[in-house]
Amino acid sequence: MATALITGASSGIGLELGRQFAAGKHDLVLVARSRDKLQALADRLQQEFGIKVDVIAMDLATEDAAAALYATLQQQNLQVDYLVNNAGFGNNIMFAEMQSEDALQMIQLNISTLTHLTRLLLPGMLARRHGRVLNIASTAAFMPGPTQAVYFATKAYVLSFSEALADELAGSGVTVTVYCPGPTHTGFADRAHMSEAPMFKLNAMSAEVVARGAYRAMMRGQSMAIAGLFNNLLIFSTRLTPRWLVRKITRWLTDGRA
Ligand SMILES: NC(=O)c1ccc[n+]([C@@H]2O[C@H](COP(=O)([O-])OP(=O)(O)OC[C@H]3O[C@@H](n4cnc5c(N)ncnc54)[C@H](OP(=O)(O)O)[C@@H]3O)[C@@H](O)[C@H]2O)c1
Repeated sequence: MATALITGASSGIGLELGRQFAAGKHDLVLVARSRDKLQALADRLQQEFGIKVDVIAMDLATEDAAAALYATLQQQNLQVDYLVNNAGFGNNIMFAEMQSEDALQMIQLNISTLTHLTRLLLPGMLARRHGRVLNIASTAAFMPGPTQAVYFATKAYVLSFSEALADELAGSGVTVTVYCPGPTHTGFADRAHMSEAPMFKLNAMSAEVVARGAYRAMMRGQSMAIAGLFNNLLIFSTRLTPRWLVRKITRWLTDGRA
């Protein structure tokens, strides 16, 4: 049975991705900081779907996190066939007011750990000529985000990195999919201080629907997919709109001010 490793599996989109993989009869390795939540999910999925679930509680926003996670996988003899880089966070704050530590942690989790973990797990997949990588970016990847400058930039990195890697790996037996959700009902908005932001009031999808879309896109081997018709239209429209106007609209959507 193939095994999927999901980062950020204790809540939101990652938790729902866990359900998608479990329903597809894949074994799981669930990673996040909240051990209790991961263990509760593992117990439920094992019982409901009869799969094997391992839990690794770890802070992935540290410099050595990916290496430590890889070492744990080796020690426990866990082979990863599907890597889902989902853990991430944002913060709705002017950059000049943001703590440096928060900015660097966001870059570490959203970019560096994702990149390092992919680099560490890829050789095994290539040697087996079988594997899939699913990176969760965002519609934020397609535009600059005033009041969330660092978060939007991290997601632009995830989009660019993933699409390039998908191209490099064509014909190798390993696929890379980058999935771009728009606003989604999870714990994300609270942590980012943007539950009241117009974008969450106008059009937010459920984590379950987003996870189902991401899972399908990955299984089809699609290089890039955007969640939902509304988000697809929105991103298409940004191609036809001047950059200054995109910035103004994004600012209004994130903090209600243009
Ligand atoms: N919700 C949205 O509107 C939205 C839109 C577009 C893209 N996304 C992206 O979707 C992904 C999942 O977010 P979500 O909406 O599902 O948010 P969420 O409910 O807040 O879930 C985030 C997950 O990441 C884990 N995590 C956070 N910091 C971590 C750390 N330092 N080390 C290890 N794990 C950590 C959390 O677990 P612990 O707290 O237990 O560590 C949790 O499992 C993120 O990459 C986010 O950028 C979300």
